[in-house]
Amino acid sequence: MEPIVELRGITKRFPGIIANDNIDLTLKKGEVLALLGENGAGKSTLMSVLFGFYRPEAGEIFVRGQKVDISNPNVAYDLGIGMVHQHFQLVQNFTITENIILGNEPHKGMIVDMASARKRVSELSEMYNLNVDPDAKIENISVGMQQRVEILKVLYRDAEIIILDEPTAVLTPQEIEELMGILRNFVKEGKSVILITHKLKEIMQIADRVSVLRQGKMVGTLEVAKTNEEELAELMVGRKVSFTTEKEPAKPGEVVLEVEDLWVKDQRELDAVRGLSLSICEGEILGLAGVDGNGQRELVEALTGLRHINKGVIRLFGKDYTKITAKERTDLGIGHIPEDRQKRGLILDFTLFENMLLERYDEEPYSQKGILQFPAIRSKAQELVDSFDVRSGEGIDTLVRTMSGGNQQKAIVGREVDLEPRLMVASQPTRGLDVGAIEYIHSRLIELRDQGTAILLVSFELDEIFNLSDRIAVIHNGRIVGMRYPEETDEMELGLLMSGSKEIADEKNTEE
Ligand SMILES: Nc1ncnc2c1ncn2[C@@H]1O[C@H](COP(=O)(O)OP(=O)(O)O)[C@@H](O)[C@H]1O
Ligand SMILES: [Mg+2]
Repeated sequence: MEPIVELRGITKRFPGIIANDNIDLTLKKGEVLALLGENGAGKSTLMSVLFGFYRPEAGEIFVRGQKVDISNPNVAYDLGIGMVHQHFQLVQNFTITENIILGNEPHKGMIVDMASARKRVSELSEMYNLNVDPDAKIENISVGMQQRVEILKVLYRDAEIIILDEPTAVLTPQEIEELMGILRNFVKEGKSVILITHKLKEIMQIADRVSVLRQGKMVGTLEVAKTNEEELAELMVGRKVSFTTEKEPAKPGEVVLEVEDLWVKDQRELDAVRGLSLSICEGEILGLAGVDGNGQRELVEALTGLRHINKGVIRLFGKDYTKITAKERTDLGIGHIPEDRQKRGLILDFTLFENMLLERYDEEPYSQKGILQFPAIRSKAQELVDSFDVRSGEGIDTLVRTMSGGNQQKAIVGREVDLEPRLMVASQPTRGLDVGAIEYIHSRLIELRDQGTAILLVSFELDEIFNLSDRIAVIHNGRIVGMRYPEETDEMELGLLMSGSKEIADEKNTEE
């Protein structure tokens, strides 16, 4: 296969960081090339250079053997390069067709030729098996479907080289399967694909070759048929990684948390949690699996006292928790690893050491007779920072705002785990972290479980759910639609439950 794109010596800097350091990369015609790397490795930056979003400080780009100057995305499109971004850019109250032609409307004289646009969208959808209704409004379609609209936008502009930036992050397992089918169709039609991901399984499943970035440098390109997940992980992280957390079977004790028929509204005053019930015992991890936006956020906020409860009861150790005071709540020992660490977990303009003791600075030995004991505070903070491997420019005196997301997250997890709470609500505890940090945080959560803490784990990553959970509850549309032991289910079944279709099927079966 001949190369269709070649990047040579691309260097792109941002203030204080070399995001891409002298990168070479080759995409061959008709292949799926995976671009693998941890968060912050420089993947999106490199592809944004190819798509004309960023001008590199150094390097050359060749497309079909010709040296090119991609000064903006329109030039990229003219060269047949299209990019599907991580965050969708769709107008909610427009139809699919209107979104696809936005900024690129076909005209018949002075007026937009809607009919021919619509026809083209239908044809493309059929050709690549995308299954979209050209007249549906964005606000009424699923996230998976919105992604296909983004893909259609790129196809509509005749892209031959298609870049997808972490496209599976927002999809259910079924939608991922379908996306893989779509990518296979692209290749069959002679298109070439660059798939950005940090998920090794997907690479093994779909890619022909994989290029691995680590901290802004290209560390290698491998044929997928000649490698395996272990080797790729090691290349990506720079050391050996274990994928499964060693753990003994849970020994659940007394019930810690009981939630009964809970109703909670979201920001827009719509019911987000709709009659949800669950319970968690001491020494047990309950994994809450679900697609983003099915009430997880509102449930967690209700549990941690951040959101009003409209109906229902939460009991902690048998006590009606909806009625207890904030002080009692703290005494009962609830730890929280928040989803939005910058809003909820940290005070960005405080130093790291101040943040590490945020909940305890008024306790002995950190405070005596109302006077803060800085040596004690600093040495405890240092201990936590060391044991959770929190890295920062100026040690514990670093302003948290200047730290990377992964290190901010490690700081919160360290602080909350160290409190040895009786209930830990962990929301996406490893999102945005590298494989090494994930491994570490997973084993600390298991340790916490083994000390008797009840843990609610909310995660969009099924691997994480399977790896940690003793029981798995699936949330869909604000309710628990299934409860499974991990050894008795699989990703496909959970995916069906997450999308709501399995529950409907089950209900039908019981009706018969
Ligand atoms: N617009 C920007 N301004 C400053 N720094 C950036 C910008 N975009 C990315 N970076 C930094 O460049 C590095 C690489 O980021 P990115 O390409 O987004 O990584 P990836 O996509 O592999 O997660 C990171 O350290 C990130 O913080
Ligand atoms: Mg990225």
